[in-house]
Amino acid sequence: MNEEIISQFPTLNNRNYLASCSQGLLPAGTSSAMTAYHEELLTNGTNWDAAMEMLEKARESFAGLIGADTDEIAVVSSVSHAISAVATAFPDSLTRDEIIFTDLDFPTVADVWFSQARFQGKLHVIPAEQGEISLESFEKYINEKTLLTSIPHVHYKSGLRMDIREIAEMAHRYGSLLFVDAYQSAGHCPIHVKEMGIDFLTTGTRKYLLGIPGIAFLYINKETTEKLQPGITGWLGKGKIGARKFDTGTPSFISAYTARASLDLIQSVGVHRIAAYLKELGVYTVQYGCEKGLRLYGTEQLENRTSLTAFAHPQAAEVVRKLQNKGVVLTAKDNIIRIAPHFYNTRQDIERAIDEIVLLSE
Ligand SMILES: Cc1ncc(COP(=O)(O)O)c(C=O)c1O
Repeated sequence: MNEEIISQFPTLNNRNYLASCSQGLLPAGTSSAMTAYHEELLTNGTNWDAAMEMLEKARESFAGLIGADTDEIAVVSSVSHAISAVATAFPDSLTRDEIIFTDLDFPTVADVWFSQARFQGKLHVIPAEQGEISLESFEKYINEKTLLTSIPHVHYKSGLRMDIREIAEMAHRYGSLLFVDAYQSAGHCPIHVKEMGIDFLTTGTRKYLLGIPGIAFLYINKETTEKLQPGITGWLGKGKIGARKFDTGTPSFISAYTARASLDLIQSVGVHRIAAYLKELGVYTVQYGCEKGLRLYGTEQLENRTSLTAFAHPQAAEVVRKLQNKGVVLTAKDNIIRIAPHFYNTRQDIERAIDEIVLLSE
Protein backbone atom coordinates (compact mmCIF):
# COMPACT_ATOMS: atom_id res chain seq x y z
CA MET A 1 0.00 0.00 0.00
CA ASN A 2 1.20 3.52 -0.59
CA GLU A 3 2.46 6.15 1.81
CA GLU A 4 -0.63 8.25 1.28
CA ILE A 5 -2.86 5.53 2.75
CA ILE A 6 -0.48 4.84 5.62
CA SER A 7 -0.33 8.55 6.48
CA GLN A 8 -4.04 8.47 7.30
CA PHE A 9 -3.37 6.42 10.45
CA PRO A 10 -1.72 8.61 13.09
CA THR A 11 -1.31 5.72 15.54
CA LEU A 12 1.37 4.29 13.25
CA ASN A 13 3.65 7.19 14.16
CA ASN A 14 4.32 5.64 17.55
CA ARG A 15 3.10 2.05 17.38
CA ASN A 16 3.90 -1.04 15.38
CA TYR A 17 0.25 -1.97 15.32
CA LEU A 18 -0.70 -5.56 14.40
CA ALA A 19 -3.90 -6.07 16.41
CA SER A 20 -6.62 -5.41 13.82
CA CYS A 21 -8.29 -8.72 14.76
CA SER A 22 -9.16 -6.97 18.02
CA GLN A 23 -9.46 -3.27 17.18
CA GLY A 24 -8.66 -1.68 13.82
CA LEU A 25 -6.88 1.66 13.70
CA LEU A 26 -8.91 4.83 13.51
CA PRO A 27 -8.34 6.67 10.20
CA ALA A 28 -7.83 10.45 10.48
CA GLY A 29 -10.97 11.05 8.38
CA THR A 30 -13.02 8.91 10.73
CA SER A 31 -11.64 10.77 13.69
CA SER A 32 -12.91 14.00 12.04
CA ALA A 33 -16.36 12.44 11.61
CA MET A 34 -16.41 11.63 15.34
CA THR A 35 -15.39 15.19 16.10
CA ALA A 36 -18.23 16.47 13.88
CA TYR A 37 -20.73 14.54 16.01
CA HIS A 38 -19.09 15.80 19.18
CA GLU A 39 -19.25 19.41 17.90
CA GLU A 40 -22.92 18.92 17.03
CA LEU A 41 -23.62 17.86 20.62
CA LEU A 42 -21.66 20.82 22.00
CA THR A 43 -23.21 23.38 19.67
CA ASN A 44 -26.80 22.26 19.22
CA GLY A 45 -27.33 19.79 22.03
CA THR A 46 -29.35 17.51 19.81
CA ASN A 47 -29.81 16.98 16.13
CA TRP A 48 -31.89 13.84 15.90
CA ASP A 49 -32.57 14.13 12.18
CA ALA A 50 -28.90 14.53 11.26
CA ALA A 51 -27.94 11.57 13.46
CA MET A 52 -30.67 9.34 12.00
CA GLU A 53 -29.59 10.37 8.52
CA MET A 54 -26.03 9.30 9.35
CA LEU A 55 -27.35 5.98 10.64
CA GLU A 56 -29.07 5.40 7.28
CA LYS A 57 -25.88 6.30 5.45
CA ALA A 58 -23.93 3.80 7.54
CA ARG A 59 -26.54 1.15 6.78
CA GLU A 60 -26.30 1.97 3.09
CA SER A 61 -22.48 1.81 3.08
CA PHE A 62 -22.51 -1.56 4.82
CA ALA A 63 -25.10 -2.91 2.37
CA GLY A 64 -22.82 -1.79 -0.46
CA LEU A 65 -19.84 -3.54 1.10
CA ILE A 66 -21.56 -6.95 1.13
CA GLY A 67 -23.73 -6.73 -2.00
CA ALA A 68 -27.05 -6.45 -0.14
CA ASP A 69 -30.02 -4.08 -0.38
CA THR A 70 -30.21 -1.42 2.32
CA ASP A 71 -33.57 -2.84 3.48
CA GLU A 72 -31.83 -6.14 4.23
CA ILE A 73 -29.63 -4.56 6.93
CA ALA A 74 -30.54 -4.14 10.61
CA VAL A 75 -28.48 -2.00 12.95
CA VAL A 76 -27.87 -3.65 16.32
CA SER A 77 -25.43 -3.09 19.16
CA SER A 78 -23.09 -6.10 18.94
CA VAL A 79 -22.63 -9.42 17.20
CA SER A 80 -23.97 -11.13 20.33
CA HIS A 81 -27.10 -8.98 20.03
CA ALA A 82 -27.51 -9.94 16.36
CA ILE A 83 -27.29 -13.67 17.10
CA SER A 84 -29.69 -13.36 20.06
CA ALA A 85 -32.20 -11.45 17.95
CA VAL A 86 -32.14 -14.12 15.24
CA ALA A 87 -32.43 -16.91 17.84
CA THR A 88 -35.68 -15.37 19.14
CA ALA A 89 -37.24 -14.71 15.74
CA PHE A 90 -38.40 -18.08 14.42
CA PRO A 91 -42.13 -18.86 14.38
CA ASP A 92 -43.49 -21.60 16.69
CA SER A 93 -44.86 -23.56 13.77
CA LEU A 94 -41.48 -24.74 12.45
CA THR A 95 -41.05 -28.37 11.51
CA ARG A 96 -37.25 -28.17 11.79
CA ASP A 97 -35.58 -26.99 14.99
CA GLU A 98 -31.94 -28.12 15.11
CA ILE A 99 -29.13 -25.58 15.22
CA ILE A 100 -25.57 -26.33 14.13
CA PHE A 101 -22.52 -24.29 14.94
CA THR A 102 -18.83 -25.08 15.09
CA ASP A 103 -15.79 -25.32 17.32
CA LEU A 104 -14.32 -22.47 15.30
CA ASP A 105 -17.09 -20.01 16.13
CA PHE A 106 -16.33 -17.21 18.58
CA PRO A 107 -17.53 -18.36 22.06
CA THR A 108 -20.45 -15.91 22.06
CA VAL A 109 -22.19 -18.05 19.42
CA ALA A 110 -22.43 -20.99 21.83
CA ASP A 111 -23.27 -18.65 24.73
CA VAL A 112 -26.28 -17.29 22.89
CA TRP A 113 -27.64 -20.57 21.55
CA PHE A 114 -27.18 -22.46 24.85
CA SER A 115 -29.19 -19.74 26.60
CA GLN A 116 -32.23 -20.27 24.34
CA ALA A 117 -34.65 -22.55 26.23
CA ARG A 118 -36.45 -23.40 23.00
CA PHE A 119 -33.39 -25.00 21.42
CA GLN A 120 -32.08 -27.03 24.36
CA GLY A 121 -31.27 -30.57 23.22
CA LYS A 122 -31.34 -29.34 19.62
CA LEU A 123 -27.85 -27.88 19.42
CA HIS A 124 -24.96 -29.58 17.63
CA VAL A 125 -21.36 -28.38 17.66
CA ILE A 126 -19.15 -29.57 14.79
CA PRO A 127 -15.66 -30.33 16.13
CA ALA A 128 -12.56 -29.06 14.38
CA GLU A 129 -9.81 -31.49 13.42
CA GLN A 130 -6.30 -30.02 13.28
CA GLY A 131 -7.91 -26.61 13.34
CA GLU A 132 -10.14 -27.22 10.32
CA ILE A 133 -13.60 -28.55 9.55
CA SER A 134 -13.96 -30.53 6.34
CA LEU A 135 -17.00 -30.44 4.11
CA GLU A 136 -17.54 -34.11 5.04
CA SER A 137 -17.89 -33.10 8.69
CA PHE A 138 -20.59 -30.60 7.79
CA GLU A 139 -22.34 -33.34 5.82
CA LYS A 140 -22.39 -35.57 8.94
CA TYR A 141 -24.26 -32.92 10.94
CA ILE A 142 -26.55 -31.06 8.54
CA ASN A 143 -29.79 -32.87 7.75
CA GLU A 144 -33.52 -32.36 7.13
CA LYS A 145 -34.04 -31.27 10.75
CA THR A 146 -31.46 -28.48 10.59
CA LEU A 147 -33.02 -25.06 10.89
CA LEU A 148 -29.82 -23.03 10.84
CA THR A 149 -26.12 -23.67 10.32
CA SER A 150 -23.79 -21.07 11.83
CA ILE A 151 -20.19 -20.61 10.70
CA PRO A 152 -17.51 -17.99 11.15
CA HIS A 153 -16.15 -16.66 7.87
CA VAL A 154 -12.70 -16.50 9.45
CA HIS A 155 -11.57 -18.28 12.63
CA TYR A 156 -10.74 -15.64 15.25
CA LYS A 157 -7.68 -17.54 16.47
CA SER A 158 -5.96 -19.10 13.47
CA GLY A 159 -7.13 -16.90 10.60
CA LEU A 160 -8.51 -19.93 8.73
CA ARG A 161 -11.04 -18.86 6.11
CA MET A 162 -14.07 -21.09 5.57
CA ASP A 163 -15.38 -21.84 2.08
CA ILE A 164 -18.77 -20.20 2.46
CA ARG A 165 -20.06 -21.08 -1.01
CA GLU A 166 -19.55 -24.82 -0.54
CA ILE A 167 -21.08 -24.83 2.95
CA ALA A 168 -24.01 -22.68 1.80
CA GLU A 169 -24.66 -25.03 -1.07
CA MET A 170 -24.73 -28.02 1.28
CA ALA A 171 -26.85 -26.27 3.94
CA HIS A 172 -29.40 -25.25 1.32
CA ARG A 173 -29.47 -28.74 -0.19
CA TYR A 174 -30.83 -29.93 3.17
CA GLY A 175 -33.09 -26.88 3.60
CA SER A 176 -30.99 -25.25 6.35
CA LEU A 177 -30.41 -21.49 6.55
CA LEU A 178 -26.80 -20.30 6.67
CA PHE A 179 -25.67 -17.79 9.31
CA VAL A 180 -22.21 -16.23 8.91
CA ASP A 181 -20.25 -14.39 11.61
CA ALA A 182 -18.06 -12.08 9.53
CA TYR A 183 -16.46 -10.11 12.36
CA GLN A 184 -12.97 -11.38 11.45
CA SER A 185 -13.42 -10.99 7.69
CA ALA A 186 -15.48 -7.89 6.90
CA GLY A 187 -13.17 -5.14 5.69
CA HIS A 188 -10.42 -7.37 4.27
CA CYS A 189 -12.14 -10.39 2.68
CA PRO A 190 -14.49 -9.82 -0.26
CA ILE A 191 -18.09 -10.68 0.67
CA HIS A 192 -21.07 -10.85 -1.66
CA VAL A 193 -23.99 -12.27 0.28
CA LYS A 194 -26.06 -13.08 -2.82
CA GLU A 195 -23.27 -14.77 -4.75
CA MET A 196 -22.10 -16.67 -1.67
CA GLY A 197 -25.57 -17.92 -0.70
CA ILE A 198 -25.64 -16.34 2.76
CA ASP A 199 -29.01 -16.00 4.56
CA PHE A 200 -27.76 -14.13 7.65
CA LEU A 201 -24.51 -12.25 8.15
CA THR A 202 -23.36 -10.16 11.07
CA THR A 203 -20.33 -8.10 11.98
CA GLY A 204 -19.39 -5.30 14.33
CA THR A 205 -17.27 -2.40 13.14
CA ARG A 206 -14.34 -2.26 15.51
CA LYS A 207 -11.97 -4.70 13.84
CA TYR A 208 -11.11 -4.62 10.12
CA LEU A 209 -13.91 -2.11 9.47
CA LEU A 210 -11.89 0.48 11.39
CA GLY A 211 -14.71 1.64 13.64
CA ILE A 212 -15.52 1.60 17.32
CA PRO A 213 -17.76 -0.59 19.51
CA GLY A 214 -21.46 0.21 19.86
CA ILE A 215 -22.75 -0.78 16.44
CA ALA A 216 -23.04 -4.03 14.56
CA PHE A 217 -24.87 -4.85 11.34
CA LEU A 218 -27.13 -7.80 10.67
CA TYR A 219 -27.93 -8.81 7.09
CA ILE A 220 -31.00 -10.98 6.57
CA ASN A 221 -32.09 -11.79 3.05
CA LYS A 222 -35.51 -10.54 2.00
CA GLU A 223 -37.30 -13.88 1.73
CA THR A 224 -36.03 -15.02 5.13
CA THR A 225 -36.98 -11.83 7.02
CA GLU A 226 -40.58 -12.15 5.96
CA LYS A 227 -40.91 -15.36 8.02
CA LEU A 228 -39.26 -13.88 11.15
CA GLN A 229 -40.45 -11.79 14.09
CA PRO A 230 -37.68 -10.85 16.55
CA GLY A 231 -38.36 -11.32 20.27
CA ILE A 232 -35.88 -8.50 20.92
CA THR A 233 -37.43 -5.32 19.62
CA GLY A 234 -38.24 -1.66 20.35
CA TRP A 235 -39.79 1.50 19.01
CA LEU A 236 -37.38 1.89 16.09
CA GLY A 237 -38.01 -1.64 14.83
CA LYS A 238 -41.71 -2.05 15.57
CA GLY A 239 -43.89 -2.01 12.47
CA LYS A 240 -40.88 -1.84 10.14
CA ILE A 241 -40.54 -4.10 7.15
CA GLY A 242 -37.45 -5.97 5.96
CA ALA A 243 -34.45 -6.38 8.22
CA ARG A 244 -35.21 -3.01 9.83
CA LYS A 245 -37.68 -4.81 12.09
CA PHE A 246 -34.54 -6.05 13.90
CA ASP A 247 -33.63 -2.45 14.84
CA THR A 248 -34.51 -1.80 18.49
CA GLY A 249 -33.91 1.52 20.31
CA THR A 250 -31.67 4.55 19.86
CA PRO A 251 -28.34 3.30 18.51
CA SER A 252 -24.86 4.59 19.31
CA PHE A 253 -24.86 7.58 16.96
CA ILE A 254 -21.15 8.23 17.32
CA SER A 255 -20.53 4.65 16.17
CA ALA A 256 -22.72 5.35 13.13
CA TYR A 257 -20.65 8.44 12.19
CA THR A 258 -17.52 6.35 12.62
CA ALA A 259 -18.89 3.41 10.65
CA ARG A 260 -19.95 5.54 7.70
CA ALA A 261 -16.57 7.28 7.41
CA SER A 262 -14.50 4.09 7.77
CA LEU A 263 -16.72 2.01 5.48
CA ASP A 264 -16.37 4.63 2.79
CA LEU A 265 -12.59 4.66 3.17
CA ILE A 266 -12.47 0.87 2.85
CA GLN A 267 -14.70 0.99 -0.22
CA SER A 268 -12.55 3.69 -1.79
CA VAL A 269 -9.38 1.62 -1.32
CA GLY A 270 -11.28 -1.51 -2.45
CA VAL A 271 -11.70 -4.77 -0.56
CA HIS A 272 -10.28 -6.84 -3.43
CA ARG A 273 -7.16 -4.70 -3.42
CA ILE A 274 -6.89 -4.99 0.37
CA ALA A 275 -7.34 -8.77 0.16
CA ALA A 276 -4.64 -9.13 -2.51
CA TYR A 277 -2.21 -7.03 -0.46
CA LEU A 278 -2.95 -8.91 2.76
CA LYS A 279 -2.66 -12.29 1.07
CA GLU A 280 0.98 -11.56 0.33
CA LEU A 281 1.56 -10.15 3.79
CA GLY A 282 -0.05 -13.23 5.38
CA VAL A 283 2.11 -15.65 3.39
CA TYR A 284 5.17 -13.61 4.33
CA THR A 285 4.21 -13.66 8.03
CA VAL A 286 3.99 -17.46 8.01
CA GLN A 287 7.28 -17.80 6.10
CA TYR A 288 9.23 -15.31 8.20
CA GLY A 289 7.84 -16.59 11.52
CA CYS A 290 8.62 -20.23 10.68
CA GLU A 291 12.06 -19.27 9.39
CA LYS A 292 12.73 -17.64 12.77
CA GLY A 293 11.67 -20.81 14.61
CA LEU A 294 8.12 -19.89 15.66
CA ARG A 295 5.47 -22.62 15.59
CA LEU A 296 2.49 -21.89 13.38
CA TYR A 297 -0.94 -22.41 14.94
CA GLY A 298 -3.72 -23.70 12.68
CA THR A 299 -3.78 -24.89 9.11
CA GLU A 300 -0.58 -25.04 7.07
CA GLN A 301 -2.49 -24.69 3.82
CA LEU A 302 -1.67 -21.15 2.88
CA GLU A 303 -4.56 -20.82 0.42
CA ASN A 304 -7.04 -21.29 3.32
CA ARG A 305 -5.41 -18.70 5.56
CA THR A 306 -6.01 -14.98 5.85
CA SER A 307 -3.36 -12.52 6.97
CA LEU A 308 -4.34 -13.15 10.61
CA THR A 309 -1.51 -15.44 11.68
CA ALA A 310 -1.09 -17.12 15.04
CA PHE A 311 2.00 -18.68 16.53
CA ALA A 312 1.89 -21.04 19.49
CA HIS A 313 3.80 -19.68 22.48
CA PRO A 314 3.85 -20.96 26.10
CA GLN A 315 4.07 -17.39 27.49
CA ALA A 316 1.83 -15.70 24.94
CA ALA A 317 0.14 -13.22 27.29
CA GLU A 318 3.40 -12.23 28.95
CA VAL A 319 5.20 -11.70 25.64
CA VAL A 320 2.33 -9.57 24.33
CA ARG A 321 2.36 -7.47 27.51
CA LYS A 322 6.12 -6.89 27.29
CA LEU A 323 5.91 -5.95 23.62
CA GLN A 324 3.10 -3.51 24.34
CA ASN A 325 5.56 -1.57 26.50
CA LYS A 326 7.93 -1.43 23.52
CA GLY A 327 5.23 -0.03 21.22
CA VAL A 328 4.50 -3.32 19.43
CA VAL A 329 0.81 -4.14 19.64
CA LEU A 330 -0.18 -7.80 19.23
CA THR A 331 -2.86 -9.91 20.92
CA ALA A 332 -2.74 -13.17 22.85
CA LYS A 333 -5.41 -15.85 23.15
CA ASP A 334 -4.69 -18.85 25.37
CA ASN A 335 -1.27 -20.06 24.25
CA ILE A 336 -1.07 -18.24 20.96
CA ILE A 337 0.17 -14.86 19.80
CA ARG A 338 -1.84 -13.31 16.98
CA ILE A 339 -0.30 -11.07 14.33
CA ALA A 340 -3.13 -9.30 12.54
CA PRO A 341 -2.10 -6.75 9.93
CA HIS A 342 -4.41 -4.54 7.88
CA PHE A 343 -3.71 -2.59 4.69
CA TYR A 344 -1.79 0.03 6.68
CA ASN A 345 0.92 -2.46 7.66
CA THR A 346 4.11 -3.41 5.84
CA ARG A 347 6.54 -6.34 5.71
CA GLN A 348 8.87 -4.37 7.96
CA ASP A 349 6.15 -4.20 10.64
CA ILE A 350 5.85 -7.99 10.52
CA GLU A 351 9.61 -8.56 10.63
CA ARG A 352 10.08 -6.20 13.57
CA ALA A 353 7.28 -7.85 15.55
CA ILE A 354 8.52 -11.38 14.89
CA ASP A 355 12.11 -10.41 15.71
CA GLU A 356 10.91 -9.00 19.04
CA ILE A 357 8.93 -12.18 19.84
CA VAL A 358 11.99 -14.29 19.07
CA LEU A 359 14.21 -12.06 21.20
CA LEU A 360 11.88 -12.40 24.19
CA SER A 361 11.70 -16.17 23.72
CA GLU A 362 15.45 -16.77 23.93
C1 LIG B 1 -15.58 -13.68 15.21
C2 LIG B 1 -16.14 -12.88 16.35
N1 LIG B 1 -17.46 -12.95 16.61
C3 LIG B 1 -17.99 -12.27 17.63
C4 LIG B 1 -17.23 -11.49 18.46
C5 LIG B 1 -17.89 -10.77 19.61
O1 LIG B 1 -18.64 -9.71 19.12
P1 LIG B 1 -19.51 -8.80 20.09
O2 LIG B 1 -18.66 -8.40 21.24
O3 LIG B 1 -19.90 -7.63 19.22
O4 LIG B 1 -20.70 -9.59 20.52
C6 LIG B 1 -15.87 -11.37 18.22
C7 LIG B 1 -15.05 -10.49 19.08
O5 LIG B 1 -13.89 -10.50 19.18
C8 LIG B 1 -15.30 -12.10 17.14
O6 LIG B 1 -13.99 -12.07 16.88
